[in-house]
Amino acid sequence: MITIAYHDGTPENEKQILWAERLTARLKHIRLVPLSAPHAENADIALVWRPPAGRLRQLNQLRLIVSLGQGVDHLFSDPHLPDNVPVVRLVDPDMSHALSHWVILALLDHLRDGPAYRLAAAERRFDSLPQRQTAQMPVAVYGLGAIGRVIAHRLAALGFAVQGWSRRPRDLGRSIHTYHGEQGFQNIVSSCRAHICILPLTAHTTNLFSADVFAAMPAGSYFINAGRGHQVEEDALLNAVRTGHLAGAALDVFVEEPLPDTHPFWKETRIAIWPHVAAQTNPDTAADQVAQAISIVLAGGQPEHIVDKVRGY
Ligand code: GLV
Repeated sequence: MITIAYHDGTPENEKQILWAERLTARLKHIRLVPLSAPHAENADIALVWRPPAGRLRQLNQLRLIVSLGQGVDHLFSDPHLPDNVPVVRLVDPDMSHALSHWVILALLDHLRDGPAYRLAAAERRFDSLPQRQTAQMPVAVYGLGAIGRVIAHRLAALGFAVQGWSRRPRDLGRSIHTYHGEQGFQNIVSSCRAHICILPLTAHTTNLFSADVFAAMPAGSYFINAGRGHQVEEDALLNAVRTGHLAGAALDVFVEEPLPDTHPFWKETRIAIWPHVAAQTNPDTAADQVAQAISIVLAGGQPEHIVDKVRGY
């Protein structure tokens, strides 16, 4: 019997039964136990989201850690994460699809003045605003991995002049101009009117979007973050929006989640707040990858999408 220690970050491990069903349909002789249970200490596999720091280290027969999300910063923030156990992250086309829809929604809602028209409708005002010219508008996508590429191609298909940035060079075909590295970052920041962050959180991307970076964006730019809150200096973003340098922002991630009641973002109508829902993990579509990674590791092999612990993604 293979034991999988499970933790999804909700107090009741809401999705444990669903995951147990989906994985049992694909793998024989497995059982899921809550990570917090004493018998989890003999687990072979951990399937986890935001596990309590230090807990995975207590699982001394662990052979694989699977992140219940695409990001793995929730694991690497644990200073006691066992360093001899491979970590696999989810790469699920269904999540790229969902996330690309959220980005398109956030961008078009801003460009077509959704907030102003909803306010007008609430006040029964049938007033029009001038329509923005958006054909070939330069849009930046920061992060060109499995999700960023889908976003970039879909935005290009909508008629935006999409540019992409990543730390290392990436080729996205002829329709998308890509930049990389430090100089590339400065070029893309200063040339685009909408900025979409989908980067993983690493030492290099922490506080990447600083006051200087917001100041370097063309006036009237829009900022969208579906990466991680810690990539943004929140005070600097708020200031850039308040002063009118940025037209606004749509955020799905925050330095502190849930966003505290007292956070000034709540009061800024030009900042759209989403509670980290741009792409939710879907056991129906992610179970194949998870089951495959588990069987490969149990057979002594190397599964796909192992995280490079030095790079941090
Ligand atoms: C969500 O934030 C994820 O990492 O999947």
